[in-house]
Amino acid sequence: MQKKRLFTGLQPSGALHIGNYFGALKPAVEMCKEYDSMLMVADYHALTSLKKPDELRENIIEIVKAYIAAGIDPEKSVIFKQSDVPEHTELAWIFQCLVTTAFLERSHAYKDKIARGLEANAGLFAYPMLMAADILLYDTDVVPVGEDQRQHLEYAREAAAKFNNAFGETFKEPKEMILKSVAVVPGIDGKKMSKSYGNTIPLFGSKDEIAKAVMSIITDSKGERPENVYAIHRAFKTDMELASLYEKNKGSYKALKEALIADIEAVVAPMRAKRDSISDGDVKRVLEDGGKRARERASTKMADVRKKVGVAL
Ligand code: TRP
Repeated sequence: MQKKRLFTGLQPSGALHIGNYFGALKPAVEMCKEYDSMLMVADYHALTSLKKPDELRENIIEIVKAYIAAGIDPEKSVIFKQSDVPEHTELAWIFQCLVTTAFLERSHAYKDKIARGLEANAGLFAYPMLMAADILLYDTDVVPVGEDQRQHLEYAREAAAKFNNAFGETFKEPKEMILKSVAVVPGIDGKKMSKSYGNTIPLFGSKDEIAKAVMSIITDSKGERPENVYAIHRAFKTDMELASLYEKNKGSYKALKEALIADIEAVVAPMRAKRDSISDGDVKRVLEDGGKRARERASTKMADVRKKVGVAL
């Protein structure tokens, strides 16, 4: 039986943190074994917020290293970057011509970003149509994403339906796979861990950097246990395992933070070693090969799309 296709993307817009690991990398690694998987570095999406070329380059390389360090086999899965497959932006344009501005204005992600002070550029506005193109180009069956991306999948289905309706059956409507088990990891201030909140624990930081971030987790002395520490700790250990640890160290926030540092280190250290063994040259080779494989698939689909909309003569 043919494997179903899985597609997911990660934006290279900042340094990876442990929230990205539990929310995106780890589930992708687990699922890749069962699916025909494509993992994309969404570099053109990152351009909606990042205008520093050196940083963008570095972030792209880091994401590819992270995928591999976390356990993705680039021979079995396709790891590629969005900008290497121009069909993505091409199809996004066609979708933009099918949806209304009123429809895009309903995007929560867009409204949130504007509320946080990001520039309301047209790319940010059209972002969901580029993401729809990413997914739909490959006849994707499932898209493993966090809860925050649910609406983006609705946008992708709507783009598929609009196109099919206007030009004939072409795109498969994809399903999101919302990863419930990978509860959102909170940051050091208790809010969702996110680079835009500046509350992250770095994934590939040195032990000292990780320790520093953990030591600065905000605790209050109201409750029985330091909730912000516990909430992060839960990503690493079961509630059962944590129960005795937190009981034994009741009131000793420092000891609990030290235990958390050790638990993070146990997960991160082997990955950091693997990451350090991958050269930038290795990354370029992986992307070149992945880009070729992705483009083969995308160009077939786009040839059909161009015919259907009437630009191919
Ligand atoms: N919007 C996603 C995020 O910010 C990244 C992304 C871009 C993506 N294209 C995608 C995710 C396609 C899944 C499928 O996390």
